[in-house]
Amino acid sequence: MTALPLAAAHAPTPRLLDLRGEFPAVPSDWAYLDAAATAQKPRAVIEAITRAYAEDYATVHRGVYARSARMTEAYEAARETVARFIGARPDEIIFVRGATEAINLVAQSWGAANVGPGDRILLSLLEHHSNIVPWRMLADRVGAEIDVAPLTEDGRIDEAALVARIGPRTKLVAIAHVSNVLGSVADVPRIAAAAHAAGAKLLVDGCQAAPRMALDMAALGCDFYAFSGHKLYGPTGIGVLWARGHLLAAMPPWQGGGAMIEEVRFERVTYASPPLRFEAGTPHIVGAIGLAAAIRWVEEVGIAAIEAHEAALTAMARAELEALGVRVLGPARSAGILSFAVGEVHPHDVATILDESGVAIRAGHHCAQPLMRHLGVPATARASVSAHTTPADIGRLAEGVKRVQRIFG
Ligand code: ALA
Repeated sequence: MTALPLAAAHAPTPRLLDLRGEFPAVPSDWAYLDAAATAQKPRAVIEAITRAYAEDYATVHRGVYARSARMTEAYEAARETVARFIGARPDEIIFVRGATEAINLVAQSWGAANVGPGDRILLSLLEHHSNIVPWRMLADRVGAEIDVAPLTEDGRIDEAALVARIGPRTKLVAIAHVSNVLGSVADVPRIAAAAHAAGAKLLVDGCQAAPRMALDMAALGCDFYAFSGHKLYGPTGIGVLWARGHLLAAMPPWQGGGAMIEEVRFERVTYASPPLRFEAGTPHIVGAIGLAAAIRWVEEVGIAAIEAHEAALTAMARAELEALGVRVLGPARSAGILSFAVGEVHPHDVATILDESGVAIRAGHHCAQPLMRHLGVPATARASVSAHTTPADIGRLAEGVKRVQRIFG
């Protein structure tokens, strides 16, 4: 294995985690390097989901029987677990389907009430489509404008340029905490301070941050934070919107139905307080319970240990790929995610050959077409690590890339 880059070589080597045995769907001879798309599930999460359906299942917030009361307690305890994990209050946690739904909720509820003709919404060039399209839809509906902050040469949000673009008409800044393509990490407190100084709000897409770094809403200083459960070792179909309590209290509901009301008459409806105001219909009960189990698992392993583990493996992968003459895109310090180009070989060919070598990566535009245009490529190959990734997985990636180079000369 090649030496680590200088900075990593001089840092104390973090203890590499040994968690592979806890992931029943990840055999030891398979390098699953697509955690940024969706994380594999530890046994503790699978068992919590199975138990919730096989032993404890009933509806929530409606039943008067004991089983339903217990399920309601478990669902609300899941909300408390999420709140503790991100340093927030339980009544500021809205369960949604995922980060995409969380951002659409803010665009349709807060956005429709607070963004008008001529107002501006500031995004960055590296955003995922889920943090572009809801804002484009809102802007088209209300006559607002979209501004776009550029990137630094190494693929981070150019924060000085972003701050300079915040103007008196800017109502919202919406950025990714960690880029899903390049792994670049944004300085959220700095951007929050600049947004607030101009009277704007800050929404952070935390999908790729939640599984790999400690989160504290007070320290980040943002107004809205969105993430998905399935990237955080939890089930699909469940995610979280956190918003400051006073913002939620003033936001109109975005979907109508059961559970979100106070009183319904044909002439007039009054609504429940948050969080239930934003959770119409029977929620994803077992999803929330599974997410809470995933968070407890992450807390037991230690988010700091996961972050250090991923940093070591990402540095290792970067060094291995660069030693093979592969172009690695993005900043030298990227959080768990590396996009790369093997000469002129199409990323789909790279991914197909790696698959034959027992390595799963993602190839494509990663739902970030504006970023692909900026990079001047139609697609990239992307490897992403997680708590169960091992140095052997990185070795397998390097061997697979050598095979790509041999095949394509
Ligand atoms: N946003 C996920 C990814 O980047 C789906 O793969």
